[in-house]
Amino acid sequence: MTIYFIDGQFTSKDSLNISIDDRGYYFGDGVYEVVKVYDGELFTAEEHFSRLFQSASKIKMTIPYSEQQLIDIAKELVKVNEVETGHIYMQVTRGASPRVHQFPELSVAPVVTAYAIHNPRPLTNIEGGVSVKSVEDVRWLRCDIKSLNLLANVLAKQEAYDAGCVEAIFVRDGLVTEGSSSNAFGVKDGVVITHPATNLILNGITRQVVLKLCNELGIPVEERAFTPDEMNAMDEFFITSTTAEITPVVLIDEKPVGSGAPGQITRKLQEAFARQIPLSVAGE
Ligand code: PDD
Repeated sequence: MTIYFIDGQFTSKDSLNISIDDRGYYFGDGVYEVVKVYDGELFTAEEHFSRLFQSASKIKMTIPYSEQQLIDIAKELVKVNEVETGHIYMQVTRGASPRVHQFPELSVAPVVTAYAIHNPRPLTNIEGGVSVKSVEDVRWLRCDIKSLNLLANVLAKQEAYDAGCVEAIFVRDGLVTEGSSSNAFGVKDGVVITHPATNLILNGITRQVVLKLCNELGIPVEERAFTPDEMNAMDEFFITSTTAEITPVVLIDEKPVGSGAPGQITRKLQEAFARQIPLSVAGE
């Protein structure tokens, strides 16, 4: 039986008591995180929970727990659900209150909901690469907030799936921003290029790990936006996220990237990334 955390309690799905008045339902008024679990341990937990608090602060919401308390809840969920390789999903909404747009009274406490599930590494994609489709970025201008408002992301991902692709690559005003649930990177003449961490993208934790690995490996990086034409002329392309890790992209809008196979720098970064996670999982 899966144990969830909801509103202060560890409980089974059947006894979950979620209010219809939760502002997450009405407005997507909340924030969330997805944290990877390898070998029963949370990966880059501090970074994720620190970003959760930053997202909450940006929407003027106070989380009624400390960062350490949330990490402890996440660890407990991993333990009681016996998750070895998987992830934690945690969201915080502004709470339950009759539907009006403005914030509810201060007496309404934000609601924290979380679960841990088993989810193997996407090794087929990591090894073979995936296809992506470019889609117009119609999101709001605060993509730096990991908010529950994901409608534009959902529609873009579906458009990609309908075209037989696994990810949509957003293009705003003639520039590539990021994926619908990932960050996007190109490699040209040995240089890794990715959109800077502005309000137009989510500054992914995996993105930050990759930039650190580039630095350690002596791979030059340019944090700058690039056009779809530049994207199509990249030697290599890859996307990153907590669940996708570093996934090579081999087809963009049906056209092969470089040689049509995952590139050398992508492979180097994947190997370095695998060294960061427990050996038993890395070799899975
Ligand atoms: N998505 N950009 C967007 C729009 C995302 O939704 C995500 C993650 C990322 C990558 O961030 P990170 O490396 O911190 O996971 C970038 C998560 C996994 C999701 O919504 O399921």
